Amino acid sequence: MSTRSQLTQQLGVVAGFDDPRVDLEQYRTPPELASYLVHVADLQGDIEDRTVIDLGCGTGMLGLAATLRGPRRVVGVDIDDAALGTAQENRRRIAATSSVSWVQADATQIPLDPSDGVTVVMNPPFGAQNGNEHADRAFLETTAEIAEVSYSIHNAGSADFVESFATDHGGEMTHAYSAEFDLPKTFEHQSEQSRTIDVELFRIEW
Ligand SMILES: C[S@@+](CC[C@H](N)C(=O)[O-])C[C@H]1O[C@@H](n2cnc3c(N)ncnc32)[C@H](O)[C@@H]1O
Repeated sequence: MSTRSQLTQQLGVVAGFDDPRVDLEQYRTPPELASYLVHVADLQGDIEDRTVIDLGCGTGMLGLAATLRGPRRVVGVDIDDAALGTAQENRRRIAATSSVSWVQADATQIPLDPSDGVTVVMNPPFGAQNGNEHADRAFLETTAEIAEVSYSIHNAGSADFVESFATDHGGEMTHAYSAEFDLPKTFEHQSEQSRTIDVELFRIEW
């Protein structure tokens, strides 16, 4: 198994969005955060030989990180066709050898009906910036339907909401981690060149 820092390095080639859409909260998950999530998931036995679904896959960062840890297959779902083009190009850059497929679909409408045990990984839109607080709820609803276990990134302060959502849907939050990352300026309306985002990462058994 590669170390976490080797994984971070490998993910450095994953390109960002060509023309990021603010309404879809399109920013690339930083390699450090993606490698953290996938490394933790792999240590829990939730990647190797599993079907991994990346909901709102964007550039493919999380799903492609999983391809480097021996999954059975990876499926990335995004509503935006242009993002999936970037994800496919990133697959070539990573030289992923695992089975990878991209599905253009609304992740909030239960886009897949997998028959085998699924690990969902996701960095869903938070909704906090555009008044659509808990936009991640709809992604969690799909996750509750299709996943055995999930790893999801949320904005800081979401733990109570996510934990009670999981409990209400028959799940259990087993691990919670906090992290921060520097988000380079992505959209015109952002004044700073980069800003630090505090996030939380949760593992949930469904
Ligand atoms: C914060 S970005 C994360 C992207 C990805 N994890 C990455 O690192 O590139 C959120 C992603 O969710 C996608 N998205 C937003 N709403 C969606 C929906 N209803 N169904 C599927 N994808 C959606 C956006 O297009 C975007 O790619």
